[in-house]
Amino acid sequence: MTTAVDDADARMSAFIRDPYPTLARIREASPVSVVEYGADLPVWMVTRYHDVRNALVDPRFGQDVRRSQAIANERGAGLTLGSDVVHMLNSDPPDHTRLRRLIQGVFTRKRVEAMRPLVERIAGGLLDGLRGHPTIDVVRDFAFPLPIMIICELLGFPPEDLHSYRTWSTAILTRGSGMSFEQATTELNAYLRELMALRRSSPREDILTDLVRARDAGELTEQEVFSMVFLLLIGGHETTVNLLGTATLALLHHPDQQAWLRANPAAMGMAVDEFLRYESPVSMATMRFTTEAVDVSGVEIPAGELVLVSLGAANRDPSRFTDPDRLVLDRDDPGHLAFGQGLHRCLGSFLGKLEGEVALGGLLERFAGIELAADEATLPWRNTFMLRGLESLPVAVTGPTAVRRG
Ligand code: HEM
Repeated sequence: MTTAVDDADARMSAFIRDPYPTLARIREASPVSVVEYGADLPVWMVTRYHDVRNALVDPRFGQDVRRSQAIANERGAGLTLGSDVVHMLNSDPPDHTRLRRLIQGVFTRKRVEAMRPLVERIAGGLLDGLRGHPTIDVVRDFAFPLPIMIICELLGFPPEDLHSYRTWSTAILTRGSGMSFEQATTELNAYLRELMALRRSSPREDILTDLVRARDAGELTEQEVFSMVFLLLIGGHETTVNLLGTATLALLHHPDQQAWLRANPAAMGMAVDEFLRYESPVSMATMRFTTEAVDVSGVEIPAGELVLVSLGAANRDPSRFTDPDRLVLDRDDPGHLAFGQGLHRCLGSFLGKLEGEVALGGLLERFAGIELAADEATLPWRNTFMLRGLESLPVAVTGPTAVRRG
């Protein structure tokens, strides 16, 4: 006989492995549903494509984490929403506008295109390191190190400390794992303070130097520099790693699509958009709250309620995408919401896409054959419903097929 807790655990792990049937049921049942978030905290969840899109651009859905935290506290939920680290993604205007303006110039389409040689060099180096191995872990050996190495290079963080950045970021995101949250933030802050002093005395062409100059000009506080670096570090690698892992698995599941992509490498940009739609790396946008009552397709969400917006459900909505549960790499429809929408639309979307294109292109080019080298049922998915990604993806490879272009 199973207990209610066992049942709940089994349901949760089935959801983590494949959330789409449940999301489809919720989406079909009502435009907005009330779900339990963490410790018995009821929150409203929006799932249909057009409602999700509207919610993301509607200023009546606030993002200020201090207010969301106050709402959770009022409900007696012992939940920490991250109000100890305030950054642009959990702020509302005017703070959001000021913080985003300070950094957005670095991530324009043109500036990111100029980063292509850097991304190719780092991806190529990682693939070189895998030469001669009959089995590789696509996530641990490639998808994980790639984006963190890139964002650290842009920030101006010394590559020899890469291991520490990973430890800090894991501890900050996954509370209860190894190092404590407090120790990780204290160490990261001390490390940053030292590096900022260094950049002040000997400036370089990197984001940290720009942020130090802005702080000295009074455009942001020291605490805001820490939070900005933290957000870029997390946003810069916790997302792309998911894209690369799930895209590779999708190619293993769809040999016809893999063959098509190998034959049409120039279509990689379009394919990456489809991977992002099919398995959205950020499955749930960050917590919002209603600043006043809002009508969502006939359902009223009262003022002062916490709201989740499901990007993963919206991107599989059959009212927007034909045959949404099929991977169709030449779908040629960039209308997915994997990067969000509105004020908080992903600042790093061009970089995320470039990393996806270069990394997946490199992987296919280096290895003529890729095959799953694990029992599908045992693949470890990240244990969260906010992000969608694999922790490990062992793959048997044959190749290298080709010499690198260029
Ligand atoms: C495939 C890769 C990526 C995906 C799928 C992704 C997804 C997202 C999503 C959905 C949001 C909005 C969340 C919300 O509204 O609650 C967001 C915001 C953000 N992302 Fe990304 N992201 C990716 C890569 C990156 C990279 C490489 C960077 C770093 C440079 C980055 C930096 C940010 C920042 C700073 C924000 C906050 C923007 C704001 O609040 O105005 N992202 N991302």
